[in-house]
Amino acid sequence: MLDGMAGVDRRTFLIGAAVAGAATTAAGTAHAATASFEHGVASGDPLPDGVLLWTRVVTSSPVAWEVAADEQFHRVVRRGTTHASAARDHTVKVEVHGLRPNTRYWYRFRVDDVVSPVGRTKTAGCETELRFGVVSCANWSVGHFAGYGFLAHEDLDAVIHLGDYIYEGFSTELRVPDPAHKCVTLDDYRRRHAQYKTDPHVQAVHAAHPFIATWDDHESADNSSSIGSPAHDPATDGPWGARLAAATQAYFEWMPVREGKLDRIFRFGELATLTMLDLRSYRTDTTILGAAQRDWLINTLTADRGRWQLVGNSVMISPFKIPPLPGLPPSNPDQWDGFPVDRELVLRSLGERRNTVFLTGDIHSSWACDVPLDGQSVATEYIVTSLTSDNFDELLKVPPRTGSLLLEAQIMALNPHAKFVELDSHGVSTLKVTADEVRMDWYYLADKKDPNTPVTRAHSWRTRHDTAHTEPVL
Ligand SMILES: [Fe+2]
Repeated sequence: MLDGMAGVDRRTFLIGAAVAGAATTAAGTAHAATASFEHGVASGDPLPDGVLLWTRVVTSSPVAWEVAADEQFHRVVRRGTTHASAARDHTVKVEVHGLRPNTRYWYRFRVDDVVSPVGRTKTAGCETELRFGVVSCANWSVGHFAGYGFLAHEDLDAVIHLGDYIYEGFSTELRVPDPAHKCVTLDDYRRRHAQYKTDPHVQAVHAAHPFIATWDDHESADNSSSIGSPAHDPATDGPWGARLAAATQAYFEWMPVREGKLDRIFRFGELATLTMLDLRSYRTDTTILGAAQRDWLINTLTADRGRWQLVGNSVMISPFKIPPLPGLPPSNPDQWDGFPVDRELVLRSLGERRNTVFLTGDIHSSWACDVPLDGQSVATEYIVTSLTSDNFDELLKVPPRTGSLLLEAQIMALNPHAKFVELDSHGVSTLKVTADEVRMDWYYLADKKDPNTPVTRAHSWRTRHDTAHTEPVL
């Protein structure tokens, strides 16, 4: 199938553009001349035979797309036409199939004679080695997204985004969010997503790699669940259901994810299965997963025979006893600690298997943990720090690597399953997966307020296969 399309070259694409342009002119369609791809391009949810493409363009003309096996588009392997509409805020998603597994492709869109930036993507497949970017918690207001720019230049299979891709609130420490108030309505959330996708680092990382994303709370509201948020006041913000529906609609419009469900599975041959969780949409006071997702997750973890089971998990699953400090609660019930029944059912379902690795965000700090059950470690957990969102030194208003050091020591004393804790730095991680080990590398920003800040590797921890123990890479 691929070879049959190989003759569709750039010239054919441009001739097609001319034909489409002529048709548009003949029909008297407006706006075509001003179409622009100012929010970049993106891809996501890679499968062995395909990937999802995304862009946004305001036009009533057809939106042409093409996928090529080379960066110059000499060997176009798939192409087609779709439309943008105001009903979806002019965002476009294209489901591409018929591609080869574990293969890089390049893609672009066109409206009349306007061609989008070129994006690069990769299908999933059977490999001997995988390397992912791992990110969470990108707050526009407090920093620049140099960590995304760093990942754009790394050799990756995909970027796993664990949530807080946007922040819905309003603050102005460094950059002013749009709209200039917290997001409540559909228009608010759309504008916030749109602003994030004008950021050059955001555009660079999306154009370089497919994303595998789930959300956390700040795509809707702080510590949200299906039944509300402590940051939501129905008296001033209206019904929670309407706000959550608005946040959900904007997310699915603006993110390169398939429609409808964020709890889903990606298979990378025999080497790894990546199970992405949605810990917000089905959450109530008594369950973090909801019954259906819990059953699905347990069935997946029980039945899967991949060498590694990776779980994309927005909030920390390891127990976290918080040191007794003034103003701090003994635990954080927004994490899995608030849902011990769900946690025990999930961890017990692992049985004798020792090849599960949880990948986590949310807590704005760096951790490597053994995940305990009945006094044994049954999995490991690697927590990526925030890209920019404030962490402990900033909240305590002390210089980095000063006041946090004592707290880190107290945390590790109270939580002996936590083998590595770093509370101050911002950045991104990469995750390398081979048959023998899963390795997390933390890369830190020198200064999150500098868009060109150096990004350097700071820590590396790994899990050897069938051990469920984390250890430092020396
Ligand atoms: Fe966050």
